[in-house]
Parts: sequence; structure tokens; C-alpha cells
Amino acid sequence: MALVGTAGTTDLGAIDPLADLAERARHLDAWFHVDAAVAGAFAVSERLGDRLRGLGDADSVTVDFHKLWWQPFNASALLVRDDTSFDLLRVASSYLDRGDELDGMINLVGRSLDTSRRFDAAKVVASLRVIGRIRFAAMIEHLVDLAEYAYRALEDHPVFAPLAAPEGVSVVFDAPGYDPDVLRVVQQSLLERGEMVLGRTTLRGRSALKFTFMNPLTTYHDVDQLISGVATEVTRGPTKS
Ligand SMILES: Cc1ncc(COP(=O)(O)O)c(C=O)c1O
Repeated sequence: MALVGTAGTTDLGAIDPLADLAERARHLDAWFHVDAAVAGAFAVSERLGDRLRGLGDADSVTVDFHKLWWQPFNASALLVRDDTSFDLLRVASSYLDRGDELDGMINLVGRSLDTSRRFDAAKVVASLRVIGRIRFAAMIEHLVDLAEYAYRALEDHPVFAPLAAPEGVSVVFDAPGYDPDVLRVVQQSLLERGEMVLGRTTLRGRSALKFTFMNPLTTYHDVDQLISGVATEVTRGPTKS
């Protein structure tokens, strides 16, 4: 049996109480897996790392480097506590695993890239080395700060209501006084005009829009402009009947 937690859900970026889940998994003697595709990058930040408390107790973790690690698509990793876990996936093939090394002979298969797979780890290692942990952490922390700033601005806004406090880089919100279909039209027209890429989703039965902050060059002023741009569009639409 496996118990699976999520560090950064797709819509809200919510992080499960990983330490509690780890404890529960231990109690049940279950495999503990964490999907940290979205928020795994928080681990590099001293300030945000605490949100992942319990992650270190996972038996396996998935991380997407093409999300908040800014790597070219696609670069993902499955990390396991004990590398013998990979034995479950291992299939011996007589033409590759010839056992030559055991006889002191050379087998080029063990000295080259894995057959025709790309060397995706190279881009991750190179960019992490160039940027460095401290700058990398500052970039992620800035995105989290932008999401919190947007949340507060939406809370105070006469048109919008955020649906949950952000734990990561996404903020989901709706426009309570307006026909829910307005949000669909607004999202599409802003996209078609090339002005904004907004997410659109349904949360607890409510149609909603979503800001996901991914670009560390985004400023607080940009956030203000994004919100007022969406407000201008929404207030052109019909109110709830
Ligand atoms: C929580 C979560 N896990 C896993 C994935 C899978 O991502 P990908 O197919 O890009 O690796 C996503 C994608 O958004 C996600 O939000």
C-alpha cells in the first residue's frame, strides 16, 4: 500500500501536511510518495523549505525541473530513498547487460549515454551551478511574495474574491457579483489579444480564474496592472441575474 501526498497542487499550489502523512505512512507500514512536481523547488529556500517539512521522510519524490526550476521541457526526476527500489523497474537485456565488466572486459554501454536517451540531467546541473542556490532561492521567494501580494490585492478589490490563501505561486479568484461565464470570456479574450495568460478552473463548484507567477522578473506594479486589466474586462460583462 502507498500513501501519496502532494507538495503543490495544480490549482491552488496547496501543500499537504507531509510530516503528518509520513507519520501515518510509518504507522500503516505503507510506502510514502510525495508528488513535489510543483513545490519541490521550495527545498532550496531556507525561508520556504519549512513548508515541505516531512518531505525528507518520503520513500519516493517526484520533482519537475521544467516547472519552478525553470528548465527546458522536459526535465523530471523520481528520487528514491534507497536506490535498490529501482530494481523493481530493472529489466535485464542480454545485448546490453552482457556482464563483460564482471570479467574485466569493456562494455561501452556503461560508459555512454543511456542508449538514445537525452542527457537531461546536464541542463539541470549546469543551470543550478551557474545561478547558485542563494539566487535561485531568491527567485522562488519573490514569486511566492508576488502571489501573497496578489492575494491581498484581490481580497481588498471591489470586484474580486480570492478562493484560498496561496501556499505557493498560484492565486485562484472569482468575481462574485458577475455571471460566471464572464470569466471564461475574459480569459479567452485576454489570451486572444495576447495580453495575458490566465488560468481558468472550477473550485468547489465556482468558476474561477488563476494567476500563476512563474517569471521572477515580474514586479508588484505588474501584478497591480494584471489585476486592473482583468477587472476592466470583467466589469464589461453582465452581473449575476
Ligand atoms: C501536482 C502535479 N503533479 C504532476 C504534474 C505533472 O507534470 P508533467 O506532466 O509536466 O511532468 C503536474 C502538472 O501540472 C502537477 O500539477
